[in-house]
Amino acid sequence: MRPPVPTLTPENLEQLDRLAGSLDRDQAIWLSGYFAGIAGHGTAVPAQDGAASNGAVTNGVAPDGAAAGVVAPEPLAAGPAARLLTILVGTDTGNATELAGELQAAAKAQGLEAQVADMSDYKPRALKDEQDVLVITSTHGEGDPPPNALGFFEFLAGRKAPKLDGVRFSVLALGDSTYEHYCSAGKQVDARFEELGAERIADRVDCDVDYEDDAAAWIAGVVERLTPDEAPATAGAPTAAAVGSAPAGGVAPATAHSKKHPFSAAVLDNVVLTGRGSTKETRHVELSLEDSGLTYEPGDALGVVPENDPALVDLLLEKTGLSADAPVTTKQGEVALRDALTSTFEITAATPRFLEQWAELTGSDELAALKAGDAKARTAFFHEHHVSDFVDRFPVAGIEAEQFVKGLRPLQPRLYSIASSLAAAPDEAHLTVSTVQYDLHGSGRTGVASGHLARLLHEDATVPVYVQRNDHFRLPDDDAPIIMVGAGTGVAPYRAFLQEREARGAQGKNWLVFGERNFRSDFLYQVEWQDLLKDGTLTRLDPVFSRDSATKRYVQDRLREKGAEVWDWLQDGARIYVCGDANAMAPDVHTALAEIAVEHGGLDREAADAHLTELQRDHRYLLDVY
Ligand SMILES: Cc1cc2nc3c(=O)[nH]c(=O)nc-3n(C[C@H](O)[C@H](O)[C@H](O)COP(=O)(O)OP(=O)(O)OC[C@H]3O[C@@H](n4cnc5c(N)ncnc54)[C@H](O)[C@@H]3O)c2cc1C
Ligand SMILES: Cc1cc2nc3c(=O)[nH]c(=O)nc-3n(C[C@H](O)[C@H](O)[C@H](O)COP(=O)(O)O)c2cc1C
Repeated sequence: MRPPVPTLTPENLEQLDRLAGSLDRDQAIWLSGYFAGIAGHGTAVPAQDGAASNGAVTNGVAPDGAAAGVVAPEPLAAGPAARLLTILVGTDTGNATELAGELQAAAKAQGLEAQVADMSDYKPRALKDEQDVLVITSTHGEGDPPPNALGFFEFLAGRKAPKLDGVRFSVLALGDSTYEHYCSAGKQVDARFEELGAERIADRVDCDVDYEDDAAAWIAGVVERLTPDEAPATAGAPTAAAVGSAPAGGVAPATAHSKKHPFSAAVLDNVVLTGRGSTKETRHVELSLEDSGLTYEPGDALGVVPENDPALVDLLLEKTGLSADAPVTTKQGEVALRDALTSTFEITAATPRFLEQWAELTGSDELAALKAGDAKARTAFFHEHHVSDFVDRFPVAGIEAEQFVKGLRPLQPRLYSIASSLAAAPDEAHLTVSTVQYDLHGSGRTGVASGHLARLLHEDATVPVYVQRNDHFRLPDDDAPIIMVGAGTGVAPYRAFLQEREARGAQGKNWLVFGERNFRSDFLYQVEWQDLLKDGTLTRLDPVFSRDSATKRYVQDRLREKGAEVWDWLQDGARIYVCGDANAMAPDVHTALAEIAVEHGGLDREAADAHLTELQRDHRYLLDVY
């Protein structure tokens, strides 16, 4: 008779997942024996350097190679056909992690041994010892690997990358088709694995932001291929639909609010932070999480499910001549066109799919050429032509409602760094939101989610939200010093950090380097920082305003000016955080930090870059940029 399956708490599972993800194959085998030893002796066995009670042991390894104080290691999986499956995750905003959880659950349901490894914790040298590797990676920046995967990609591209003969693999690439370099990180890793001799189990699948169905199909496909013929018959082959509904990480309770089941949060406060005369609008939005069961940690983000601007919906109805009540098919079933344009479809940014559909409907040579042309030209065209501009410039007489929505992609939630700590604001989540506003072809436009949040001013306003964990951007131990570099809304998570550290009475020093345009109008949360300085929570505050002087000065300039102190703090074990703009600010801060290491640390430029890479690997240089 099979022994009963022991019950593990979600914490146990999380700890195990984290540990499993950080191990190479040899370590995993050693630990399997170690745990068997614990079970065999009924007590915890001392770790690596421990004096085990039963025999001569050096460094935790018995002379015969068995782990300290343990019985000989068992194979990781039973059965001759069992192979170890490693799921490697490259992610920034958590989608790949969630899918890795679904893949792991689907694999386990088929009796496959599957471990999930975050690429930042994974030692890429161990790749050569792998058997089956499934990579799920997003693309960030402008075609770059996500931040947690930079070291992995660098190693893989380099000369030290091992031959991967005997390794089987497949890649799920997450991306956004409005970007020029669509899914390029996934494409890169897929090509490189092949180049290194690995055998492809299934073709790479590239997923747009509405990735759920494509990802579920890929998961079902790879799991089916990996399942040995003699796998337990009880589990049954996973279907794409079943995979899609599996809980992330296999531990989330079915009732929890999540991206798929957001919580309707009441808007408690919604005020403009920027002052009169500012060139931008930045808002402070307070949301109630009461009775949601949602919790978060400083560093996490809130996913906001927006609605489109009603004025834009009206404009599209008017331009297409379609009835607001015309029924259209959506994933939620048949709904009226107005509702679909409000809540279901993205009606601002156009995508390659929309271009393809519109080229067909209009028969336009210009659109057909764009469709067939290069990605760069397409991206530039999309920048100038949103959905309403297509409708304007390339009208389709007598278009039907179903035809119109066919090329549109589902409306996606947007993430906002949480700017509060539950310790200071129980049951609440605060956001710092810059309202995206711009002119295109003479008409004023607003960003979908930031515009929606800016309109949530009525007393009973609510917005659907969920918590997006961000384990790559966490506070260190209470006594460790931190340097927080943030421009604009990049300051949001630092408000959460400082609230948390104040509430905990943490002793670590805190240095905030904040950048914006004008002192008078854009010094976000100025009074709060000053209070924190007064009570000693904030050790140093270095604001810098780019438009207050003839020469523009940014956070990276302030860091350079204070280079000696920055270097001293880093030598004292400080963590440095960078949050905000990904395109200009983050690379410029990186350059400034490298220059500081050269000037004040006496390193040459190559060593300085290596030093920063090492800090990133040690989770002491952390980025949350967008
Ligand atoms: C982890 C994370 C944390 C974040 N935290 C925050 C935060 O704390 N605060 C915050 O404000 N934002 C934050 N963001 C950004 C946020 O998620 C949204 O991307 C941002 O608010 C814009 O979304 P939107 O729906 O308002 O605009 P969208 O509708 O997505 O519009 C943005 C798009 O508008 C178009 N556009 C913009 N300007 C022009 C122009 N001049 N001409 C033509 N097209 C143009 C571009 O295509 C651009 O991509 C974060 C993002 C991430 C990933
Ligand atoms: C700041 C930013 C930059 C991005 N750049 C790209 C890109 O260059 N190419 C692409 O295909 N997708 C790009 N994306 C889209 C992400 O890859 C996509 O949202 C993916 O689902 C994120 O997965 P993750 O949550 O696992 O990181 C970008 C997303 C963000 C927020």
